[in-house]
Amino acid sequence: MKHHRLIITLLAASLLSPLAMAEAKKDAEMLKLTSTSGCMTCHSIESGKPGPDGLKPVGPPWSEVAKQYKGKPGASEFLTRVVLEGSSPYSSHWKGKVSGLAMPPNAVAITEGNARLLVNWILAL
Ligand code: HEC
Repeated sequence: MKHHRLIITLLAASLLSPLAMAEAKKDAEMLKLTSTSGCMTCHSIESGKPGPDGLKPVGPPWSEVAKQYKGKPGASEFLTRVVLEGSSPYSSHWKGKVSGLAMPPNAVAITEGNARLLVNWILAL
């Protein structure tokens, strides 16, 4: 019986590790994309990091974005559009929670395909 459990554990580990490796590779790719696209001047991945004024961050931490939109139908498409086209200071989605009034359009810095990849990665944080 004990022996069986060991075999099952070993099997599970050997099945899991390629998955974990693929995930780490994806994380590294996405992190590279965020820095080459300039997102990190305004965003952080985890919350709790203060902004330049020592208080609110410029843009919402992505873990908060994930919490806000995860599982909502159309979230991926909606956020991809916001990333590419920017947001409006007159209808801020993060009013009072961030120091930035709006996000500028990022279409100059990132392709639509990469923006979608990044948004899907953010939603899975
Ligand atoms: C110049 C600062 C700045 C940069 C650069 C920036 N953002 Fe933002 N981002 C913001 C601000 C400010 C908001 C909050 C907008 C609001 O309140 O509606 C925001 C919001 C978001 C949201 C949530 C949108 C919503 O409607 O809730 C996502 C997702 C996001 N940014 C992703 C990105 C990605 C990906 C990049 C890089 C390609 C990026 N941002 C670059 C400032 C920035």
